[in-house]
Amino acid sequence: MSLVTLRDVLGPAEKGHYAVGAFNANNMEIVQAIIEAAQEERAPVILQASQGAIRYAGLEHIVSLVKTATLGADLPVVLHLDHGTDFDQVMRCIRHGFSSVMYDGSGLPLEENIATTCRVLEVARAVGVSVEGELGKIGGTEDDISVEERDTMYTDPLEAKRFVDETGVDALAIAIGTAHGPYKGEPKLDFQRLKQIRELTGVPIVMHGASGVPDTAIKKGIELGVRKINIDTELRQAFTGGIKSFLAAEPENIDPRKILGPAKEAMKAVVKEKMRLFGCAGKA
Ligand code: G3H
Ligand code: 13P
Ligand code: ZN
Repeated sequence: MSLVTLRDVLGPAEKGHYAVGAFNANNMEIVQAIIEAAQEERAPVILQASQGAIRYAGLEHIVSLVKTATLGADLPVVLHLDHGTDFDQVMRCIRHGFSSVMYDGSGLPLEENIATTCRVLEVARAVGVSVEGELGKIGGTEDDISVEERDTMYTDPLEAKRFVDETGVDALAIAIGTAHGPYKGEPKLDFQRLKQIRELTGVPIVMHGASGVPDTAIKKGIELGVRKINIDTELRQAFTGGIKSFLAAEPENIDPRKILGPAKEAMKAVVKEKMRLFGCAGKA
């Protein structure tokens, strides 16, 4: 099946009140683990590549790996750029066959973020590619964050409304207390802010940094309008954990296939578990 867009998978997720998993891939084994998990769970899936993944594997390799993996899969698969911060890089991804892109202008002043997101959308709309935007600073993991700090880092609901009204993005990444990478303690999410943003914008919300977020908080997020959930760190932990335990048991083994095979299976198990948690299993 050919690649689909965020609109194709998030529209049904809106109607069905579930979220679609977005998993980061960097190499062949990871792409295979994600697509095989989606097939076994009959789940729509978003496979995303960061700028770092593209530097590592190469743009052509990422696109052909994903297209090859989806050839026999009768599933909606989105190939999405994760955190594209450079306009030209976003354009290259569109030209090479990504069906969706994230333009991350969250480090820019609001006006500039809106202006560049609009430029991305103008091109993306013309060629049928979907766009995720970002507003707010996803990052601080500290539990003792003050209210003033929250207000400067977290997404402002009124700014979110303006951003969505002026850009028309297909999905919006917001900062409500999640962070990339492992958490030190349990993350405390600002659900009230999520609720307000969702009520004001009506747009599908993206939860970044979802590795390590407790299942109850994931479910509450979905109830309040989270429709795309990004997972990378837990995939890395499973993959690397698989390699470490294999080599601990067989330190003399030098066959990369034997070493990476169990790592891929460990990662696949995490992807399947997340698909069930997000409610997208059985929806393809
Ligand atoms: O949001 C970040 C993703 O986990 C990708 O990380 O830039 O190290 O590939 P990366
Ligand atoms: P984690 O690595 O914390 O799962 O975050 C992934 C992410 O948000 C990718 O954009
Ligand atoms: Zn992210």
